[in-house]
Amino acid sequence: MTVNDIVDLRSDTVTRPSPGMRQAIAEAEVGDDVLGDDPTVKVLQVRLAELLGKEASLFFPSGTQANQTGILVNTRPGTEAICEANAHVLHYEFAGAAAWSGVQLRPVATEEGVLTADLARPYIRPESPHLMRTALICAENTHNMAGGKVMPLAVLEELRGLANEHGLALHLDGARLWNAAAATEVAAAEFAAQADTVMVCFSKGLGAPIGSALAGTAEAMARAHAWRKRLGGGMRQVGILAAAALYSLEHNVPRVAEDHARAKRLADSVDALDGFRVVAPDTNIIMIDVERDDLTLGDAVSFLEERGIWISATALGQLRAVTHLDVDDDGIERACAAFEELAAR
Ligand SMILES: Cc1ncc(COP(=O)(O)O)c(C=O)c1O
Repeated sequence: MTVNDIVDLRSDTVTRPSPGMRQAIAEAEVGDDVLGDDPTVKVLQVRLAELLGKEASLFFPSGTQANQTGILVNTRPGTEAICEANAHVLHYEFAGAAAWSGVQLRPVATEEGVLTADLARPYIRPESPHLMRTALICAENTHNMAGGKVMPLAVLEELRGLANEHGLALHLDGARLWNAAAATEVAAAEFAAQADTVMVCFSKGLGAPIGSALAGTAEAMARAHAWRKRLGGGMRQVGILAAAALYSLEHNVPRVAEDHARAKRLADSVDALDGFRVVAPDTNIIMIDVERDDLTLGDAVSFLEERGIWISATALGQLRAVTHLDVDDDGIERACAAFEELAAR
């Protein structure tokens, strides 16, 4: 089996740059971005700020560094930030909020990964000489560990209202904001308008090899620029990556709904099999419950892998498959067939 025979559904981060993207990378005008010279980075940052309706944006090497910078610019050490209980900032960023910002994250359990104002409200600390101050709400849209769950705009608007009532900032982890926008047919800018800072990734469903960004006010981005430098995120002739990000905005944002349709096809097919349960995905992430005592998650992953279908098992005890621009209809049909074989085993 060659690499091209593998249907890699482990994550939407596994995409490889397409020939068109590689050409854009090759032709990118570059300069030293630490000296403020890279023209392609400048174009990207202006274009993204426009797209998200923010004053400014800043290119980052990773979503993690951009999220952490978002927390840094919205808080002070010794304050608290509220997030959903399975949020990326809480579980997968190496306690960055504690390490860099000196901020305690306060998780809020939800049924389906959607942090509503009603669920968050009781977690806001009252003013008291005995309690730390709540400074920030972190929202995640779509929610990765909740299976690409969309936070509807109305829910985010209510969170914004709650933040305003209590003088809190709101950071939006929009690693997959493009997916939320495609699924709801609401512009990314409308979601971003509710947040003080918004992080987006080019390196997930959009197919760029590296790259994320943070957007917000010009003043917040000036402080974010200093933090990025302090965190070691200053990059030199990084226009080659900004060119990939620009290419991804132009060519790959309009196609993410295709990934959602393919995720639905796979989810419906697996859900119809005995011993497997799948909640219909909102976007491109499929979480599969295995309800068979004779099949471990590890065995299921290995069985599928032998047939060229790569998926993962999560810490939450589910199988996880993610569609993206390197998986076509044929790949999805092969995945459906492999699951049928697994169910019949
Ligand atoms: C919701 C969410 N936020 C942030 C990140 C971090 O992005 P990166 O891997 O670029 O650091 C991820 C990565 O998967 C994610 O899913």
